[in-house]
Amino acid sequence: MNAHVKVWGVKTGTISPLIYGHFIEHLGRCIYGGVFDEDSPLADSSGFRKDVLEAVRRIKCPVLRWPGGNFASAYHWEDGIGPRERRPKLINYVWGGIETNRFGTDEFIEYCRRIGAEPYLAVSLGTGTLDEALHWLEYCNLDTPTKYAEMRKTFGHPEPYRVKYWGVGNEVYGPWQVGHCSAREYAEKLRQFAMFMKALDPSIQIIAVGADDPEWDLTVLKHAGKVIDFISIHQYHGSEDYYETVAAAYYVEERLKLLASLIKSTRMDHVKIAFDEWNVWYQVDPEEEAREKGIVYLEEPYTLKDALFAAGIFLVLHRLSDVVGMANLAQMVNALGMIKTQKDAMVLTPIYHVFDLFVNHTGTVRLGCEVLADSYAIRAKSFLKGRSSFALERVPYFDASATYDPSRNVLSLAMVNFHRDEPCEVAVDFSDVPAGKEGQLFELTAPDVLAGNDFASPNRVVPVSRAVALSESSYSLPPHTLWVLEVPLEGTLGGTV
Ligand code: AHR
Ligand code: AHR
Repeated sequence: MNAHVKVWGVKTGTISPLIYGHFIEHLGRCIYGGVFDEDSPLADSSGFRKDVLEAVRRIKCPVLRWPGGNFASAYHWEDGIGPRERRPKLINYVWGGIETNRFGTDEFIEYCRRIGAEPYLAVSLGTGTLDEALHWLEYCNLDTPTKYAEMRKTFGHPEPYRVKYWGVGNEVYGPWQVGHCSAREYAEKLRQFAMFMKALDPSIQIIAVGADDPEWDLTVLKHAGKVIDFISIHQYHGSEDYYETVAAAYYVEERLKLLASLIKSTRMDHVKIAFDEWNVWYQVDPEEEAREKGIVYLEEPYTLKDALFAAGIFLVLHRLSDVVGMANLAQMVNALGMIKTQKDAMVLTPIYHVFDLFVNHTGTVRLGCEVLADSYAIRAKSFLKGRSSFALERVPYFDASATYDPSRNVLSLAMVNFHRDEPCEVAVDFSDVPAGKEGQLFELTAPDVLAGNDFASPNRVVPVSRAVALSESSYSLPPHTLWVLEVPLEGTLGGTV
C-alpha cells in the first residue's frame, strides 16, 4: 500500500491542550483502589497511589473530570467534605458497592494540584438541586464571609480553589440516568443553573449536556446557548473486530462535525465541543456485572487495536481543533481504565502510551497537511448489544497530522498505518518546511493487533524510538502502527495563529 503526505509550513490553527484530558468516577476500582488507596504500601500520606500519580504526571493530564458520569447525578458533595471518619457511608446505587466518601472535593482538588490538572466538576441534576450546586461553587471558588466559603477555610483550605470548568448534569437524555428528562426540561434547568452559577462566579465555564442527537442539541443550543461555553458529546466504540474498532474514530469525526454544524447553524460560535467521555467499551455489560457481582467494575482489557482507535481520535481532534475545546478519556484507572492496578503493581495499557506519544511528542500548533491514501467501506454493529452501529463509505487505511511545537522549534508528524496486514510506503514531502537533517521517530506497534500489557508482561506494547535521516522522502510504516516523527527545524514557519 502507498500513501502521500505533503506538509505545508503554514500554521493553520491552535490545538487546545485540554483535548488530552481524563475522567475519574466513583465506579468499581477507579477511585478506591486506583487513584486513592489508603491501605496500599504504594500510597503517599494523602492516600494517593504514587505509581499512578507519577504515570499520570508523565502524560501531563491537563484537565480531570469528577465525580461522574452517572454517579454525579446521585452525588451530594457535602457528604464528601470534613473529617474523613465522620463522612457518611452510603450505598452507591448507581454502580453498586459502598461509597465511603473518603475521597471528596478536597481530595480531588489536591489530586488535581499534584498532577497539574485543571479540575472539572460535574454538578448533579438528578437528586441534586440548584441550591446544592451554588453551595458547591461557593465552597470551591468564593472568598466571601459566608457559610460554605467559611466551611472550606475551617477544613484547612483558606485559598479558594478557583475551579474553572463546571458541567451541568450528565447524560440526562438517557433512561439509565438519575434525573432523566426531556430536552426542553433540561435546557431550561441548564439555563437557570448556568445563569445563577455565573452570577456567583463570572469566571467559570459551563459545560452543557449534549446527546449526540440533533434535536436535543439544537434545543439546548437555542434555549441556553448564550450562557454556556461547551456542549458535550460522549462516544464509546469498538468490538472484537479490528477494523470496526479503528474505523470508529472516523465515525466519531462525523458526529463531531455534525455537532459543530449545529453550533454554527444556531450562531453560537462561542460554544466549543467538550468530548468529555470517549473510549473503547464493548466487553463488559454493566447490567450483567451488576446482576452477577452486585458491583460494576467495567475492567475492560485494552490492546493495540484499541490504542490505534485512540490514535485515530487524536488525529481527528487535531483536524477539528477549531471546534473541539476539550476531550476526556473515560476513564483513567481500572474502570474502562488506560491504567490498571493491583495491590502492589500497575500496568500501563497501550492506550496510555498513545497519550504519551501525542502529549509529549506533538505540538499545539496545527500545520497544513495533505494526506492521500487508500480507503475501505465498513458496516459496524457490535458495541454492547449493537448500541453503536455505524456505516462508513470511505475510511482511510492511513492518516496523519502535522503539528508544531514553538517552544522547541520542532515539527511533528503523527502517522498511523491502520492496515492490519500490509505495510504502508509513505512518500513524505517536507519541501515547504526548513527541516533539519535528522529526526527522532517514536513507534508504537506489536506483531499482533490483539497484543496488550498485563501484570505478567507489562511491556509487551511500549513505544520505542530511534533517530532517522530526513534526507529520505519515503518511509515504510509497518502494519497496524503509530509513528510520531519529530523534525527539528532550521528556520521559522509562516502564518500566524
Ligand atoms: O464511563 C462510564 C459511564 O458511561 C459514565 O458514568 C456515563 O456517563 C456513561 O454512560
Ligand atoms: O451507554 C450508556 C450506558 O449504558 C450507561 O452508562 C450504562 O449504565 C448503560 O448500560
